[in-house]
Amino acid sequence: MNDRYCVFGHPVGHSKSPAIHAAFAAQTGEALEYVAIEAPLDDFAGAWRAFTAEGGRGANVTVPFKEQAHRLCDTLSHRARRAGAVNTLVLDADGQTRGDTTDGLGLVGDLHRHHVELTGARVLVLGAGGAVRGVLEPLLEAAPASLFIANRTAAKAEALAADFADLGEVAGGGFDAVRGPFDLVINGTSASLAGDLPPLPDDLFAEGGVAYDMMYGSEPTVFLHWAGERGARIIDGLGMLVGQAAESFRLWRGKYPDVAPVLDMLRRLL
Ligand code: ATR
Repeated sequence: MNDRYCVFGHPVGHSKSPAIHAAFAAQTGEALEYVAIEAPLDDFAGAWRAFTAEGGRGANVTVPFKEQAHRLCDTLSHRARRAGAVNTLVLDADGQTRGDTTDGLGLVGDLHRHHVELTGARVLVLGAGGAVRGVLEPLLEAAPASLFIANRTAAKAEALAADFADLGEVAGGGFDAVRGPFDLVINGTSASLAGDLPPLPDDLFAEGGVAYDMMYGSEPTVFLHWAGERGARIIDGLGMLVGQAAESFRLWRGKYPDVAPVLDMLRRLL
C-alpha cells in the first residue's frame, strides 16, 4: 500500500492541497496518496489517531485545527513552538507525532522567488492573529532592518512584537502608529475576506516597494488593488500556499519538489 497523507480541515472540500501533493508526487516519483479529511470539530486528536492507525504517515492541518494539532504533538520544531500552531504533522518511525509549521518558510521562499530582498528591508506586517504569528520567526530570521506589526486591536500587535523581540528589530501598534515608507508590506489580516481595507496612509511604500497579500484569488485582493494604485509591485499568496506545501513534502519525503510548474497549474485553475 502507498504511504498515506492527508489535509485535515473543517470544512476542507475546497482545499488545493490534494492537487498540489498529487503533482509533487508525480514530479518526484514518490508513491503516495493524499486525501482531504473533514475532522470533527471537538476531536482532532481522535481523527489523527484513526488516520495513523490506517497507515497515515503525515498530515497538513488547516483551519480550525492548527492549535489543537499543536497540543497533541510529542515533539515540536522551534518554529511550531513559537507559532503556537502546527500545519504539518509527521508520524516518526518510533510512533511519536512531530509537529512543524511551514507557512513562514513558504512565505519567505515565495519572496525569494520574486527577488524581494528581506535583509535590511523596512517591513510592515498588517494583522496580529494566528496567520501572522505563524510566519514571524522565518521573517525575522531573514534580518530585516525593522519590522512593524500593525493591527486593528493595537494591544495584540504590541504583545506579539514583545513575544518575538529577541529575534530582531520588531515593534507593534495600531494602524495610526504606522510610519512609512516601507520596502515591503505584508497583509496578514482577514480584512480582505470582508472586502475591507485597513486604514493606511497613501505614502506607505518606498520607491520600488512591494505589497504581498497572504490571501489569493482570481482577482487581486482589496489590499493589493489599493497598493497597486499607489505604485507598489503586488504579489498574492498563491506562491506561499505552494511553498508551504513543498516544505511539508520535504519533511515527509526528504525531497524538495519544483514549485514553479505546480504554481502555474494552480494559477490557471483560479
Ligand atoms: P488568522 O488565523 O487568519 O490570523 P485571526 O487569528 O482571527 O485569524 O486574526 C485575524 C486578523 O485579521 C486579526 O489581526 C484581525 O484584527 P483584530 O485582532 O483587531 O481582530 C484582523 N482583521 C479581521 N478583520 C479585519 C478588518 N475588517 N479590518 C482590519 N483587520 C481585520
